[in-house]
Amino acid sequence: MTQDFSTDWTSVHFPVWRKVLAPLRESPVAALEVGSWEGRSALFFLDQLPKCHLTCVDAFEVRPDKADRPGFAEQIRLAEERFDRNIAPFSERVEKIRETSAIALAALLIAGRTFDLVYIDGSHQTDDVLIDTALAWPMLRNNGVLIWDDYRTESVRAAVDAFVSLRQDRLEVVQRGKQMIIQRRPPPVLASHGGSPTIRRLLRLLRVGRTRVRPTA
Ligand SMILES: C[S@@+](CC[C@H](N)C(=O)[O-])C[C@H]1O[C@@H](n2cnc3c(N)ncnc32)[C@H](O)[C@@H]1O
Repeated sequence: MTQDFSTDWTSVHFPVWRKVLAPLRESPVAALEVGSWEGRSALFFLDQLPKCHLTCVDAFEVRPDKADRPGFAEQIRLAEERFDRNIAPFSERVEKIRETSAIALAALLIAGRTFDLVYIDGSHQTDDVLIDTALAWPMLRNNGVLIWDDYRTESVRAAVDAFVSLRQDRLEVVQRGKQMIIQRRPPPVLASHGGSPTIRRLLRLLRVGRTRVRPTA
């Protein structure tokens, strides 16, 4: 199979991704990628996770923050052509959404889609990373993995740190380096099988409360 790339920002991460994704290798993983460019990261996921279905979101258009780059529109056109060619052998396992991430992710969320793996590598502007993250988070399944690229870029780190500190009760940091990788924790178990003493007491109080407000005959 011939693959055609003009850039490589990605293969440096493959050794870590291989380790983190190893437990998912045999599973029918649903994966979401925000920012696909020529398809290098997408091809890695498709190859490493042979049963995965991958949704690729990319606007493939000059974003306002890059509008002053000469020749960029042509570079993007070529990147999309390369993406299409590189991904073609896996077409039954790939869904390409050519759209701005905020619009695409909102549509996926409304459609009730969920994912085991999310890779965020689209716009690196703080607001965009925050929006992509906030929309992707409710779609990340329990124990799912979320990877942000370029965590060392200040604009990305600001958004990722804000989000991680906000939801630290529901996630585990797997790696904090050139990329930030987290795993979503399942919600704490409230149930009778051994919740904390405070929660058991609260539930007892609520039960008492319920009997008190029961209407009298
Ligand atoms: C760094 S490249 C992705 C590289 C790719 N993940 C890889 O490893 O080979 C970023 C991509 O995000 C896309 N992008 C940037 N901002 C976007 C946005 N707001 N919505 C959708 N795509 C966006 C660009 O078109 C570009 O293809």
